[in-house]
Amino acid sequence: MPSPQEELLEIAKRRLYGNYRPAQVVFTRGKGCDLYDVDGNRYLDLCAGVAVDCVGHAHPTLTSAIAEQAGRLMHVSNYFYNEPNIRLADELCRRSGFARAFFCNTGTEANEALLKMSRRYFYGQGQTNRARIIAFDNAFHGRTLGAVSMTGTPKYREGFGVPGNVTHVPYGDLEAVRKAMGPDVAAVIAEPVQGEGGVFPAPPGFFSGLRALCDEHGALFLVDEVQTGIGRTGRFLAFEKDHVMPDAVALAKGLGGGFPIGAMLTTEKLADALPPGTHGSTFGGNPLACTAALTVLRILDEEKLVEGARTKGAALIGMLEDLVRDFPQTCEGARGDGLLVGLILREGFVARDVLPLIQAQGVLLIAAGERVIRFAPPLVVTEAELARGVTALRTVVAELDKKRRA
Ligand SMILES: Cc1ncc(COP(=O)(O)O)c(C=O)c1O
Repeated sequence: MPSPQEELLEIAKRRLYGNYRPAQVVFTRGKGCDLYDVDGNRYLDLCAGVAVDCVGHAHPTLTSAIAEQAGRLMHVSNYFYNEPNIRLADELCRRSGFARAFFCNTGTEANEALLKMSRRYFYGQGQTNRARIIAFDNAFHGRTLGAVSMTGTPKYREGFGVPGNVTHVPYGDLEAVRKAMGPDVAAVIAEPVQGEGGVFPAPPGFFSGLRALCDEHGALFLVDEVQTGIGRTGRFLAFEKDHVMPDAVALAKGLGGGFPIGAMLTTEKLADALPPGTHGSTFGGNPLACTAALTVLRILDEEKLVEGARTKGAALIGMLEDLVRDFPQTCEGARGDGLLVGLILREGFVARDVLPLIQAQGVLLIAAGERVIRFAPPLVVTEAELARGVTALRTVVAELDKKRRA
């Protein structure tokens, strides 16, 4: 007799579209950093739905705010205003120093908005030849044709007839950006930490250098904070470390704490770059999603989660550095920013293949790039939970190490 989970997995295999490669587990509920599958097994979630569930699963303040708003008003469209939308725009601008907010539903859409906004800004000024974008090798900006044109991993673009006019240069290489610059460049777009690409934090001085190059050439500086934003790095937005102000940012993931919402924030200079009729979203900025985001921001403050991401992230890096020291043949290093951290495996290992072994220890982590095991836990994670995760990882690394030596 198959278990409930086995039965569901069998249907999933036949009915779900084949574009994902999910782990063989079906989750049914969560609490804090714990997830439970339909057979009742418990897992420690240290990936938070890819850096999304920042206040953990089933946070009582967030769930009751969503339930209450759902009972009042879920959707009216952008033909009308709604209060949570206005309040969220105000709150995000107040916290970030930007002046304007556009709401959408995903990170991809937020980046698509950045791309359209920057090209349309120059078009509106009569600079119709200024449409080229400089993006970075290994970058991840999303999957729609526009967003994927800026994504820097060729395999994500292959076979889709992706539109061009994007120049990719090595991440961290200011000289390469300088060489790629020209009067036809509308914008440079960069992630403060390349998350999907392998948890690569920007080298010191990179963002201030990009800002200066954009100013010199009259281009816009766009920052993709989809993975790094909303406190994950121990700052509300990760670029704050570099004391620069971009022209616009993309947000999503942690913003809704698990409820889908994305946003583009811009400076006042860009407020009219997308005049009425040029861009929009039916669901974008609906009262339910905006209430979720407003509540997430409140919880971040009440539980001091942004500051916590900094201290807990430092503790996690310390634990992983111990692991690297103990198994130097298997682990190359640890790097990250706040609670976005990677353990880099030595050449020859494939991070994705190691994940099931970690899952068998009751811990959920994800891969980044080819050889990086990524931690992106809920920001409510405790140091004790992080230590439990690292202990499970240590068991797996020790096994890999033994096999490699055999
Ligand atoms: C930096 C970055 N930008 C954009 C995206 C795409 O976001 P979404 O999957 O919500 O469309 C991601 C997703 O991983 C991301 O990490």
